[in-house]
Amino acid sequence: MDHFDYRDGTLFAEDVPVSTIATEAGTPFYVYSSATLRRHYSVFTEGFADADVIVAFAVKALSNIAVLSLLAKEGAGADIVSGGELYRALKAGVDPRKIVFSGVGKTQEEMAAALDAGIGQFNVEGEAELHALSAVAADKGLTAPVAFRINPDVDAQTDDRISTGRAEDKFGIPCARAGEMFAMAGGLPSVKARGVAMHIGSQITSLSPFRAAAERAVDLVSELRAAGYGIETLDLGGGLGIPYAAGETPPPPKDYAALLRSVTDGLDVTIMFEPGRMIAGNAGIFVSKVIYLKTQGTVTYAIVDGAMNDLIRPALYSATHALVPVEEKVGTPTPFHVAGPVCESTDVFSRDVAMVNPQPGDLIAYRTAGAYGAVQASEYNTRPLVPEVLVDGDQFAVIRRRPTYDEMLSLETIPDFAR
Ligand code: LLP
Repeated sequence: MDHFDYRDGTLFAEDVPVSTIATEAGTPFYVYSSATLRRHYSVFTEGFADADVIVAFAVKALSNIAVLSLLAKEGAGADIVSGGELYRALKAGVDPRKIVFSGVGKTQEEMAAALDAGIGQFNVEGEAELHALSAVAADKGLTAPVAFRINPDVDAQTDDRISTGRAEDKFGIPCARAGEMFAMAGGLPSVKARGVAMHIGSQITSLSPFRAAAERAVDLVSELRAAGYGIETLDLGGGLGIPYAAGETPPPPKDYAALLRSVTDGLDVTIMFEPGRMIAGNAGIFVSKVIYLKTQGTVTYAIVDGAMNDLIRPALYSATHALVPVEEKVGTPTPFHVAGPVCESTDVFSRDVAMVNPQPGDLIAYRTAGAYGAVQASEYNTRPLVPEVLVDGDQFAVIRRRPTYDEMLSLETIPDFAR
């Protein structure tokens, strides 16, 4: 469910015509719906209404500070993976105690900044990282709150490129080594190990991998407690899939919540989650304009002004995003390929997609582009990062404007030897 609907044949973002935003922001651009973001956050949290739970939005999915601020106002924390994401989360007013720092390669500078901010939890993924964290915290006279991210060796049955919980993946610590890690932490001066964390992958469309991984984590909590370690938090990560095309039926968030509540029932821990896509995916669309039609043999391309550098998911993961016209047309749909201007054959958003008489100047939108859309954009081909717009009812604001070419080049210099 989202808030991008047609009224009299015109696509609206909440109560604002998408064409009005196009006039103001220029194409291409992303639009996010506040109502959808709030709704998805509340749908997620409702399932855990009376439980001790922290929902830390995965900043990597959609990191604009306006979105982080909106979610923080709803009560969300932040799952971060870099010093930059920490900086954003703090700027947006996220409660530091609800910030969890994930990732296999935290630098000591990033650890120091997170300790200074007083974040709630470091999800540590290895021995060397644990020693580094303890040393950084000791220097500051602080104690770092730690959970160990375990690798439950569960296949999330999703795309190979976004699976993270199999034994051979680079993430986490094998369950069999968790006790050893807690013992090691006990011998270090400036870390307090008090939690277990996991994240097995993204766009997961069946509940069984979640069940298998959570059961493993719950068993581990019991084993660790039996060995005398105090476990206060269990972080179950993110990963819940969303529908990208008609007919896709990932598990509803309430079923996901019911499953994980039953698996963790009576465990007496703070349960944490790191959802990204489930909150932001359907809350955004990517809008571009048809520039030309071009027929190559039997195929007609609609060439649009958006490209793979703006929305890379189709090129990178062969992902499908549903295409819709901003103004509906009456007529018989015929197949088109939709491609951008970037000089790569992978810069094709859709193949053989049904469109009704597309013409230069028409606006089109790709749905479900809120998560891993703008955040994965680049300036490849020296194309400016596209604006992001946030709608709330009948109001909208450009929350990231398009940079000028001068701004894009402002970090570059020509040294004398290159003149
Ligand atoms: N927690 C950790 C430690 C993660 O690595 C991720 C995503 C999440 C939470 C959030 O997962 P979500 O709830 O969004 O599934 N660029 C890819 C997705 C990469 C996901 C990376 N990790 C895509 O466009 O599909």
